[in-house]
Amino acid sequence: MNTFNFYNFHHKAIRNLLGQLNVKFGKTDFENQNEIDSLKMSLLKLMALLASHSYIEDNVILPALTSKGVSIPENLNHDHNRLDSIIFKIISAFQTLSSTTAEVKEKGSQLYLLFNQFHGEFLLHMHLEEVDMLPILQEHLNVEETEIVKQQMVNKTPHKLMLDWFLYGLPALSYQNQIELLQPVISNYSAEMMSGVLSVAKKSLSEVEFNKLVIGLNLKVV
Ligand SMILES: [Fe+2]
Ligand SMILES: [Fe+2]
Repeated sequence: MNTFNFYNFHHKAIRNLLGQLNVKFGKTDFENQNEIDSLKMSLLKLMALLASHSYIEDNVILPALTSKGVSIPENLNHDHNRLDSIIFKIISAFQTLSSTTAEVKEKGSQLYLLFNQFHGEFLLHMHLEEVDMLPILQEHLNVEETEIVKQQMVNKTPHKLMLDWFLYGLPALSYQNQIELLQPVISNYSAEMMSGVLSVAKKSLSEVEFNKLVIGLNLKVV
């Protein structure tokens, strides 16, 4: 039986980012343009990561099953479009939001509620994928097919998003999972990419966690 968890890293990264963004949203002073702009940037980053994640699920993970004639549960088929439309609505509303407009506080509160709805629905979506889809993937894809999917997941992730996945994903993983994730990539990644990964690890982990990881990976850090 295939035990690889196709969702573990990305879903934990998304849960981490959604939680951080929820707090940031709640703290934002909608009369302060800098805070509005900073929140807008964070939401755009979230949207880019979610779009890349959905793209990989729709174009790599699901086709690996459908090409073998395995059917996908109906409730998972249209979820991405529905969720995309909610986040798009939030981002679009932000484009017109400015601290100089009178109704900005009211609009900010409405967007906070809408973001919370999105947050809740996205958590349920990932839960569904892990409860309903993961067993199907593990049952129907063998180790070789899984390796191909894993490689395609890496190949189809835009290079500029790779470090963001590590930034939010690494601190959400157990030490053992961090080692399992990074050990195989050390020899595949360029020195430049590896130094980028280490710098986001240093930023997102505590000093103790970071030092433990460096020792576990047998790396020299200057
Ligand atoms: Fe999904
Ligand atoms: Fe997902």
